Amino acid sequence: MVQFEEIIGLLGGGEATRERARKVKLDTVGNAVYLRGLIELSNICRKDCFYCGIRNSNKKVIRYDIEDEDVVQAARYAWENGYGSIAIQSGERNKTAFTDRIERLLYDIKEMSRGELGITLSLGEQSYDTLRRWREAGADRYLLRIETSNRRLYNTIHPNDQNHSYDRRIEVLHDLRSLRYQLGTGVMIGLPGQNTEHLAEDILFFQEIDIDMCGMGPYIEHNDTPLAIKKSTKKTRLPGLEERFEMTLQMIATLRCVMPDVNIAATTAMQAIHPQGREMALDVGANVLMPNITPSLAVGDYKLYNSKPVRASSYEELFASLRRCGFEVALGNQGNSKRYASRK
Ligand code: 5AD
Repeated sequence: MVQFEEIIGLLGGGEATRERARKVKLDTVGNAVYLRGLIELSNICRKDCFYCGIRNSNKKVIRYDIEDEDVVQAARYAWENGYGSIAIQSGERNKTAFTDRIERLLYDIKEMSRGELGITLSLGEQSYDTLRRWREAGADRYLLRIETSNRRLYNTIHPNDQNHSYDRRIEVLHDLRSLRYQLGTGVMIGLPGQNTEHLAEDILFFQEIDIDMCGMGPYIEHNDTPLAIKKSTKKTRLPGLEERFEMTLQMIATLRCVMPDVNIAATTAMQAIHPQGREMALDVGANVLMPNITPSLAVGDYKLYNSKPVRASSYEELFASLRRCGFEVALGNQGNSKRYASRK
């Protein structure tokens, strides 16, 4: 395990860290960008996270739920266009009908794609039994961000109740591991009150639970949330957007140096700050891109933060941009985590 002091050095290492990350990436996971078509299934959510635009208490949100056939249709689009995988994301829901529905969708999508399409779920905290059923139905991977691994900071960005327990979140990450999902987590960067030591702790945490994948993005205010409205103090100063963006690039580069064989996503929140943000993330160590393929009727209502890009530029535009930047787009490849493969 790479130790705290060394991680702090990498986080403070500027361009030298990024240069090292580029080399580590080429030597370990190569130059290819793996695609996951992102389907934002529903913005209905039982949680009330202080930072998130689709939190339960935000009455301004128009709630939607995509029809099953449209989900399968989007998955078919992904499969036919060479996306090796899809990611199904939704607000957190835990009714039996939801569990059953996801299970059915998993079977349908696996069958439709003759088992070729990799499936990632990102559906929040679920019971062990639910996660087991989804795994058996064909889910390959699961993303559950810890948001911040620091318990105290976690408690400042979530309500203090049973529904938002730090311990429960950790427990679910362990459940996912024991069910042999490819496990992904991640954090938001530039939260009020977050410092470099917190970010170094996050990287220690990733090593400890031995993740396969990671998605990290800058925190971006959403006007209708308590965290955006809250007055900052000297201690909870919010870094400027540009600073959050740079911190995220540095975290990506550092993680690539510390855990060379994990999959790292270039996230949408990077693109929200800079039009080329995702390409810049790929340049310093990320290797996964998740273009939004949500059927158009719902696009726009899955608004987690201000100025969230509504849709990936067209398929052709995106690929052209990636190739211009010197990346090779891995078509027809699930792009499973190398780390997961070597653990097995
Ligand atoms: N800024 C940046 N990321 C956010 N997320 C939610 N709200 C925000 C925000 N305001 C991220 C969280 C969550 C993921 C789905 O979106 O990290 O896990």
